[in-house]
Order: sequence, then structure tokens, then C-alpha cells
Amino acid sequence: GHSRGSQTRISEYRISKDYKLTHEWLLNHTSHRPKVAVICGSGLGLLADRAANKQIFRYQDIPNFPVSTVEGHEGCLVFGTIEDTSCVFMQGHFHLYEGYSLCQVTFPVRIFKLMGVESVLVTNASGGICPDFKVGDIMIIKDHINLPGFAGQHPLCGPNDERFGIRFPCMSDAYSKDLRRLAVEVCSELGCSDFIREGVYCMVSGPNFETIAEARMLRILGCDSVGMSTVPEVTVAKHCGLRVLGLSLITNKVSLDYSREEKVNHEEVLQISKMRAEVLQKLVTMLISRCQQQSINTH
Ligand code: HPA
Repeated sequence: GHSRGSQTRISEYRISKDYKLTHEWLLNHTSHRPKVAVICGSGLGLLADRAANKQIFRYQDIPNFPVSTVEGHEGCLVFGTIEDTSCVFMQGHFHLYEGYSLCQVTFPVRIFKLMGVESVLVTNASGGICPDFKVGDIMIIKDHINLPGFAGQHPLCGPNDERFGIRFPCMSDAYSKDLRRLAVEVCSELGCSDFIREGVYCMVSGPNFETIAEARMLRILGCDSVGMSTVPEVTVAKHCGLRVLGLSLITNKVSLDYSREEKVNHEEVLQISKMRAEVLQKLVTMLISRCQQQSINTH
């Protein structure tokens, strides 16, 4: 309706200006005009290494950009080209458990949209719930369950910013069928079909790993893997009409059984990420050039 109070309008206006400032700053500081954005999961920042003509900005130097709380080389926005495709990589992303609002978590996605990005590739680490999954498997995300969203932790809560999308967006096709098909194709060309799966990713807020009862609940609900990221970014990307592909690296098996002794920890997650980093890098590199090709052919 058009009868919103002045307070709502003021906050909406402020948010619009925030995006505008960041967008214009980036346009003035780089000549790259990315078509594909890659959001690198924790420990997967080196996915950007193969890009040429790189231009790197630290998050802290970009106006309004949230600043990463994790150490290491993560916390950079990397512009570059991969086989003539202009792309942008987020090395390190923002999590709900770090204390960011979902508006901050998803801020970069809208900046990418404003810069002309058409497709987003998201990678993350998750725990395998599907009993068939093995550690090291790569799951193409077919669909997700937005568990924090059910509890009102949703990035699209609040006044709808009409420039980006509609109030009640459809989410039944959040993960592009074409991109999923392409990912399967590329995986088979790379000879890694043995450890490629497809499934439903569930987001939890974290930071603790799941209890056994929680893990069993998720399994009953139809989740194949569980992690602490990605869903807000995908939701906002879909809202503003971006094509999305999600790849989730299964770094551990989630314990579903009281008699099992295994206990998940963060080091294990990082170690498996390292093990699969190279193949993921190849996969993402091939996907970037091909998905842009696909987009040109279909539009
Ligand atoms: N649970 C939640 N998040 C995760 C896991 C897990 O088992 N592994 C990697 N991220």
C-alpha cells in the first residue's frame, strides 16, 4: 500500500543511499564490470587465484561494506577475468553467528546486482546428513530450507525495496535448473562424478554444531546437508532476479546416532576444504566461463 508512515520511508531511503554510495565507489575504483559473482565459503578463498587482471579491495576500504571478523587472507573483494568473463569474488563472507544483521550479510549481493552481475555461484562447507554422503563429496544444491527464516530471521523482512524485487518472491526455483545441469556436465568432464551429489541444504544459525536430536529432526525434514550460511544470500539474489548455483562441500558427517563417537570440529572442516580446494577451483573456473556462455545463448 501507499499509506506507509514517514518512519518507514526514512529507513528505506537511508538503505537505498547506502547501496548507492558503495555501488558508485566501486564503479569509480575499478573498470571491471562483472557478470558473474562467486561467494567463496570459509577456507575456499583461493577460488579467486586463477583470475587474470586482478584488482583487490579489502572490505574495510569499501564504504558501507561489512568488515570480516575472520583472520587470514579472507575479507577481500577480488575483481578479475576468467577466459574473457569478468567476475568478482568474495573472499570470506558474513555469518549470522558473527553478529551481522541479514541486511549486512546480503549487502554485497545487491551491490553485485547493481554492478550488472547476472549469475552468482555460492560455495560453502556443510555437514552431511544424507547417510549416502561421504566426507569430501560436493553437493550441488537443489533446494534449501531457510530455518532461521521460519523464525523471522529473514533478509527480506522490513520494507520491500521495489528497485530490487517484489514483496512476495517465488522461491520454488531459487537454484537455476540450467546451472545445475551445467554443473553436472562440467563435473563429468572433470572426472569427478564419483563424488558429486545433489540435495537439499538446510541453514541453521550456528555457531554450535547440531545436537543429535536436532540432526535427526533435520533428516526427517528432508535435509541432506546442514550449514551456517548461503541461504540469506541466495534468497536476496533470487529476489532481485539473479541466477544462482550453490555448491556445498561435505566436510563432515553429522552424527545421527547416540552410539557413535565421532565429534565434529572446525579444524576438520578446514582440512577437508583444503583437500578439495583444487578440484573446486577447476570446477568453478570452468563454470564461470560456461555459465556466461549459457546466459548469452538463452537471452
Ligand atoms: N553443521 C553445521 N555447519 C557445518 C557443519 C555441520 O556439521 N559442517 C560444516 N559446516
